[in-house]
Amino acid sequence: MNNVKINPLAYAAGASVTGVDLRKPLTNAELEAVTKAWHNHLVLVFPEQNLTPQELIDFTSQFGQVERNDNVPYYRHPEFPEVLLVSNKPVDGKPSQTRNTGRNWHADLTYTDRPAKGSALLCKEKPNVGGDTMFANLYMAYDTLSPVIRNFIDTLEAVHDITLIKGFSRRDPAQIEEMRRLNPPIAHPVVRIHPETDKKLLFISERVRNFVGMSEEESQPILDFLNRHATSPEFVFRHRWSVNDLVMWDNRATLHVALADFDQSQSRHMMRCSLLGERSGYVINVDEDQSAGSLKSALAAVS
Ligand code: OGA
Ligand code: MN
Repeated sequence: MNNVKINPLAYAAGASVTGVDLRKPLTNAELEAVTKAWHNHLVLVFPEQNLTPQELIDFTSQFGQVERNDNVPYYRHPEFPEVLLVSNKPVDGKPSQTRNTGRNWHADLTYTDRPAKGSALLCKEKPNVGGDTMFANLYMAYDTLSPVIRNFIDTLEAVHDITLIKGFSRRDPAQIEEMRRLNPPIAHPVVRIHPETDKKLLFISERVRNFVGMSEEESQPILDFLNRHATSPEFVFRHRWSVNDLVMWDNRATLHVALADFDQSQSRHMMRCSLLGERSGYVINVDEDQSAGSLKSALAAVS
């Protein structure tokens, strides 16, 4: 028996979870109910959870191994490397480097060989209006493609590139250098099978540069189509934050985007914990790969 109540918030994804205090360890029955809801609704909203950083880590760790953010080792909580601060509040008098985190459609850590299994984001301060986050259901994206396109993308691999994070070039130059070094372009399958639900999904993102063996020119129209399709309004849940909302998403089956739809002079301060996902993909030599399908190499071959 447990008192967990799950209420769907939208058709594509999203459910609120009440009747549970996340400061305490979940009982087996609660963990089971929440996990089941997570797989069904992909994005869970737990309102009124005033957690400390340690409590956020403890809550998240009940669903897997918590990440230490070593691939992007900035703006971690000073005492808890597992907690990333997604915030527009200045740090040491300088603008925060995470003030524009997540401004294009993405899943967390796909520029690594262990894209996150899930992430939990806790809202500590928010602007009067806006600062919403949207989530898109990648099962729906896959299921609604025509058989011809599904067949075409079935064996495709996408090159995920950290430099395509929106606003990346405006970050601190030393950090840019370090983030590139730690995260060389990596290829992941475009169609993945979710390890828990066994369902196929469209693993695309606006942080993909091209498909393996295809030039950027060839890839771009297909990428544009797949990203537009995956983020169709029908597949999207939009969350309007309240302070102390904890939102946990299935990072393997959704994309998300943080909207800049708010007055930037007001604080928006979030704490994030991510779960390590399974190993996937391989580091790719972009120069070699790009020369294969490029227009230049085709012209060189005929001349
Ligand atoms: C993230 C992210 C969304 C937001 O923390 O991974 O994309 O709304 N943030 O802050
Ligand atoms: Mn994110």
